[in-house]
Amino acid sequence: MCWIFAYVGETDSREKLVNGLKMLEYRGYDSAWMVGLTNSSEVFIEKAVGRVSALATKVASKSEDTKLYTTGIAHTRWATHGGVTEANTHPHVSTNERFYIVHNGIIENYKEIKASLESDHTFYSQTDTEVVAKLIESLYDGNLKSTMEKVAAKLVGAYSLAVIDRENPGTIVGIKLWSPLIVGEATDGIYISSDVNALAALAESYTILEDHEMIVIEDKKYSIFLAGEQVERASQEVEEGQKIDELWNFTSYTEKEIFDIPSVLENVWSGRINFETKEIKNETLDALAELDIDRICIISSGSSYYAGDIGGYFFRKFAGIPCQAIISSEFLADTFIPEKKTLYVFLSQSGETADVRESMKIVKAKGCMTFGIVNVVGSTIARMADYGLYSHAGVEVWVASTKNVIAQVWVLLMVAVALGKSRDMQISDVRDLIAELSELPDKISETLMQGPHIKKLAKKYSNYDDMFVLGRNYFYPVAGEASLKCKELSYIHCEAYSAGELKHGPLALVSPKFPTMVFNPMGKFYSKTVSNVQEVAAREGPILWFISKNDTHNELYTDTIELSETSELLSVFTGLVSSYLFALYLAEALWRDVDKPRNLAKSVTVE
Ligand code: F6R
Repeated sequence: MCWIFAYVGETDSREKLVNGLKMLEYRGYDSAWMVGLTNSSEVFIEKAVGRVSALATKVASKSEDTKLYTTGIAHTRWATHGGVTEANTHPHVSTNERFYIVHNGIIENYKEIKASLESDHTFYSQTDTEVVAKLIESLYDGNLKSTMEKVAAKLVGAYSLAVIDRENPGTIVGIKLWSPLIVGEATDGIYISSDVNALAALAESYTILEDHEMIVIEDKKYSIFLAGEQVERASQEVEEGQKIDELWNFTSYTEKEIFDIPSVLENVWSGRINFETKEIKNETLDALAELDIDRICIISSGSSYYAGDIGGYFFRKFAGIPCQAIISSEFLADTFIPEKKTLYVFLSQSGETADVRESMKIVKAKGCMTFGIVNVVGSTIARMADYGLYSHAGVEVWVASTKNVIAQVWVLLMVAVALGKSRDMQISDVRDLIAELSELPDKISETLMQGPHIKKLAKKYSNYDDMFVLGRNYFYPVAGEASLKCKELSYIHCEAYSAGELKHGPLALVSPKFPTMVFNPMGKFYSKTVSNVQEVAAREGPILWFISKNDTHNELYTDTIELSETSELLSVFTGLVSSYLFALYLAEALWRDVDKPRNLAKSVTVE
């Protein structure tokens, strides 16, 4: 996957492109490149394997080149096809070296197009993007806009792409289908980007392109077209919350985002819940409560999947509605039986995850009801949904999703209670629950204050190569999310199981070298889980317990991390937060790059 950035203006593009790529780097950081054009068609090309900082160093080392490359395109790559090598890190260019392109997405029919072009062009890579560069040359009719209409008509797949023409500096044409493309206006020029966050620090306003639209930048102005007709659309002002925040005193953005969680909660419930009157008040929630639904299906990936799975317990418990959480790639792999009375809920931080987006397309094509819970405003999934609530977690800069998961779980809980209220849930129970939830920011702050203790334990557990994480009921998906975070940040092999399931096979792995983390707050399942963990203790497996503050069974425990007080519900949130700190400190103890874990990217727009 390649994330794209482009600039046309009065000044040199190179520093702007580097800055734009730095903002997009969280989406992929295997390699990066840029092409700049002067007004007299001189070309500047630079590329680097690895981080954008490597590209920035190379660009800076050419400071003796003082020409003004006022038109430029750039990309940062997360390798999908082909290794992370210098050879695979190159600007994609037509055979006549006239058209340079950047592309995010996948051209599904690139092999057929390539076959049709092979007699006239020699291909230097295996990529679909190179095929598009060659196609532009072969269809060129003297006008880049009409040529790109012809190109778009031939492409099957998902793409956002931007093209520059060496013979027309100052012009950029972009097209999009399914992949995001945003244009930003600033006093120093016009920008194109794969996301708003990368534009937020540079542009004053932005416009999100819709599918099949084309953007043409020329004569220092831009116009949007759909099927050849110009589209009038008001731009939106960049808001403060869309800008990537400073790191302040934190050692990583991941750490900062975990410590942001108490304030994130205030954004999430603002305009949705009134703690004084103990009421949930929100138009979308009211509209959902009116729907004739008898089942909920939650479709999402990764951390968003675990958030959805936790939500499933909420829907069953508070609303009495059957609910199933499904991994989006599995939804795509399975037979879809559309149900008109099912609400299909799509969870996504980025709003661009291809597996989720493609699942949503299938559901929508059958006329079923869709509801999106998305963080990035204006993203594809947010715009496709019939109903939606933003998770309002603020910008998540680097790879591991943390504060957004908490926000998603919170939104799911509100939806479950709103639906419950319109069914059998007693108003007094709703009010009690809201009163309980009002304590959450304080409980999370208490959890965060345990940082030094959790750090010490993480240091100890960083000596192991493998771990289990156990939980029951709500805490089964909490264990899944904890294990995902430990894996992706620390690279320690970590598997989640339902506490009751361990004895059915995985227990064979337990030994003094194979520890087990257990989420076991006081509640209905406390004793059962204790029994399961005693089976681990009997095999001399080290155990790290996540327990309630007032748990009195101290004799059981060797290592403990305290969750909130007695409430199981609040412990879901504090359990997630403490597991995030644990995973972070585990990774730090092993000297991992926590913001940029190996092999990963923030937003996965390929299936
Ligand atoms: C893990 C993580 C990923 C994402 C997954 C889905 O920390 O961030 O597992 O949760 O790629 O992404 P979104 O939520 O953007 O659809």
